[in-house]
Amino acid sequence: MLGLCSAAYEVDFAPLMEAFHEPVHLLAYDSGVLVSHALWVTRWLQPGGLPPLRTAFVEAVATAPMRQGEGIGTALMREVNHAIATYDLGGLCPAQPGLYERAGWEHWQGPLSIRLPAGGLLPTPQEQIMILRLPATPLLDPRWPLSAEWRVGELW
Ligand SMILES: CC(C)(COP(=O)(O)OP(=O)(O)OC[C@H]1O[C@@H](n2cnc3c(N)ncnc32)[C@H](O)[C@@H]1OP(=O)(O)O)[C@@H](O)C(=O)NCCC(=O)NCCS
Repeated sequence: MLGLCSAAYEVDFAPLMEAFHEPVHLLAYDSGVLVSHALWVTRWLQPGGLPPLRTAFVEAVATAPMRQGEGIGTALMREVNHAIATYDLGGLCPAQPGLYERAGWEHWQGPLSIRLPAGGLLPTPQEQIMILRLPATPLLDPRWPLSAEWRVGELW
């Protein structure tokens, strides 16, 4: 799994993987060989004036370089959508938005920020976030402000 992520992202993924708090991994195999991976962690995304929503935040989506462009990542994301269906919301920070758009994810359009431990908000206008509406997702407008709790490492 680490080898696949390191090869796909072209970095040593070990320190990044260690930073994820209680990740749940989804692995795709072809003939017994690992070909694709995604994980999610629980985060608390807060759209507009709603209470923070229990959010499956998807990370480390990776397909083995030799197997990219075959539709495996798209199929994996559809499985992720099913696997996270009991959360209040899906969220992720996309490097390749097309992959997630095909799987039904939407771009957040409103202002993004991180809720600081000492209180207050850190605006993060440089970031791009996508969400997936799930059965328990309340009515929300992607033009509202959206915040997430602060965390060590990547803020989003
Ligand atoms: C992003 C990533 C996970 C996509 O995985 P993948 O298995 O290649 O995904 P898919 O094959 O479903 O889609 C990739 C492209 O191949 C195309 N494709 C899908 N099925 C195809 C098929 N049968 N034949 C040829 N091309 C196909 C898709 O149109 C897509 O192109 P687009 O996104 O420009 O529209 C993979 O490229 C990767 O590991 N990248 C490095 C890590 C990374 O950046 N991860 C994303 C973080 S957000």
